[in-house]
Parts: sequence; C-alpha cells; structure tokens
Amino acid sequence: MSAMPVPQILGSLLMVPVGTCPEWLVAAIRGAIRTGASWQETADRVAAALRPELPRPDLLLRPAQLSGDAAGYQTHLLHAEPDGLFSVAAMVWRPGQWTPIHDHVAWCVTAVLQGAEYEEIFAQRDGVLRVAARNRNAAGTVTGFAPPGDIHQVRNAGSGVAVSMHVYGADLTRLGSSIRREYHLPIT
Ligand SMILES: [Fe+2]
Repeated sequence: MSAMPVPQILGSLLMVPVGTCPEWLVAAIRGAIRTGASWQETADRVAAALRPELPRPDLLLRPAQLSGDAAGYQTHLLHAEPDGLFSVAAMVWRPGQWTPIHDHVAWCVTAVLQGAEYEEIFAQRDGVLRVAARNRNAAGTVTGFAPPGDIHQVRNAGSGVAVSMHVYGADLTRLGSSIRREYHLPIT
C-alpha cells in the first residue's frame, strides 16, 4: 500500500532565495505595482503584467528541484524585493500532492507554468467552511487575489509534476511563509 502524500510544512520556511528569478520578471512586477493601490487592484495589475510571458520552469529551478519531493509539495523562494514590497516563489507538486486549507498574509498572484492545479475556494461562516468555487488551472493560467475571501486548497490534479510561480505582496524572508492561517474546520 502506498503512503498518502502529506502537506509539506518545512518547505514553507522561506528565509533565503534558493532559485533564480529573471530580471525581466522582477522588472515586470515592479512596473505593475502602484503606491496607494488596493491589494486586489495590485494583484490584478501584477497578474496582467505577467500573463503575456511566463518563464519556463527550468529558468527558475534546477533539475533536482523540478522533480519534486515525495514528502509533499515544495516551495522555493526565488526573489525577495529589497524594500520588502513583494516576494516570488515557485512551487513543485508531484501528482496528488496538496496544500492544507489556508489563507494568505497579503495579495497573491499565481501562475501555473507546468501541469495543472485544482483549486477549491472556501467561504467561512459560523465555524464551518463551504466550497464557494472550484477551478482547474492549466499551464498558462494566471490568477490574482487578495484577502479577505482567499481561503483555498490547491492540489496537483494532473498525472505529472506541476510547477507554479507565486508573487506575494510581502517579504517572505521576514515572515518565513505566505500562509497566514491554516483552517481545520468542518466542510459542508
Ligand atoms: Fe495559497
């Protein structure tokens, strides 16, 4: 009997960049951020800036990182902006690996670079979670979102390794994680 994959915890500690973020990508994100914009507006602007040209996974991570890890999905920090305005990370998922149900410390943009990710978005009310939306995000899908209303769970829905890139409006080298809180509530 094969062991069930478990959500990865240790890899969410993102203190030092371990991958590469091309300068054109950093410049595109910087150019999209406007002082005074709301988190949702910022996420939408960054998503729009990234959508026309996404990097190949092998520009970001080494082959060993791109093979994933049997222990769970892996998060690799690629860039932390010196002023703390945003961070970029790549996630690598083997088939069936998933995140816990969680929300986020700040606005976020996700881009699926390889494979497909299945996402469930939840609404919380009276101590229970209700599935508010289900999305299957294929390679090339770029999505921007911001708290509140950002409770979700993501899983690799394909048969191969999935890779996604994430931009967070926070300094992950200080916070160590993009996850604000995990949810362990009944689901109706
Ligand atoms: Fe998330």
